[in-house]
Amino acid sequence: MPKVALVTGGNRGIGLGITQALLAEGYAVAILATRPEPTELITELSRSGEVSYVQGSVAELDDHARYVDAALERWGRIDLLVNNAGVAPSVRADILEAEPESFDRVLGINLRGPYFLTQRVAKVMIDQQRPEATAADGAGHAAGQAAPSVRGTIVNVSSTSAVTVSTNRGEYCISKAGVGMATQLWAARLAPEGVLVYEVRPGVIATDMTAGVKDKYDEQFAGGLAPMPRWGTPADVAGAVVQLAAGRMPYSTGEIINVDGGMHIPRL
Ligand SMILES: NC(=O)c1ccc[n+]([C@@H]2O[C@H](COP(=O)([O-])OP(=O)(O)OC[C@H]3O[C@@H](n4cnc5c(N)ncnc54)[C@H](OP(=O)(O)O)[C@@H]3O)[C@@H](O)[C@H]2O)c1
Repeated sequence: MPKVALVTGGNRGIGLGITQALLAEGYAVAILATRPEPTELITELSRSGEVSYVQGSVAELDDHARYVDAALERWGRIDLLVNNAGVAPSVRADILEAEPESFDRVLGINLRGPYFLTQRVAKVMIDQQRPEATAADGAGHAAGQAAPSVRGTIVNVSSTSAVTVSTNRGEYCISKAGVGMATQLWAARLAPEGVLVYEVRPGVIATDMTAGVKDKYDEQFAGGLAPMPRWGTPADVAGAVVQLAAGRMPYSTGEIINVDGGMHIPRL
């Protein structure tokens, strides 16, 4: 039986990179995204493992039920939730001018939706059996003392915008700062249940989301935006998710992994 991962927005950009990496690790992957099922892509991904697709919005709580139930019906358990789906504001507007509709849309998709999807999936994880402990789980534990195995893992994809202001997309920054707090909340609440919760914080990653500001960031990378003078890739972010999901850090939760070429390091 494969391990089962839910990856919201797993059909494009960073999410697609995460889907591909998890399939390569032997996971079955359930994707939630808004567009009609991209059948060619799903067929292609299915060559690497089991994939399912639910069309729906992470902002709609009714869609969460369909998404989670479909995965449980097919595979019977959920080992990993990656809250990846997210949007930038449709219009970058100075916070003196920005519209409440954009605030509600961005917060609904980036923060409220994942918060309640986490609530639903956490209950599933709490109710399910811990997988059989492996020899690796026991490493470092005294003889006769069973190492606690991980019952499930939740990874939130936030952003460097959680801690970096952009005054022309305040709602995005606030949504990602909120994801940081949600990570801490869920990590604390789910720790006694054997569910680990982490935050992956990407810097500037080459996807559709950043395609419209490519020239600006090309220039900024050339000017030293990050110690590593290049854009990040979906595979860079996926690598962090795979590491966190591997369960090799069972006594760590609530951690933040920056995937930003060192951009978060204060420099003089
Ligand atoms: N790119 C960056 O530089 C960067 C940096 C930091 C953080 N991030 C974060 O990383 C995540 C992925 O970003 P990306 O760059 O890969 O963006 P992207 O290329 O624009 O892809 C966004 C993905 O999210 C899905 N999505 C959007 N709204 C949704 C909704 N309401 N319900 C379900 N799925 C929805 C999209 O599905 P459809 O195909 O149906 O639209 C798509 O799969 C986001 O949370 C973003 O904030 C990105």
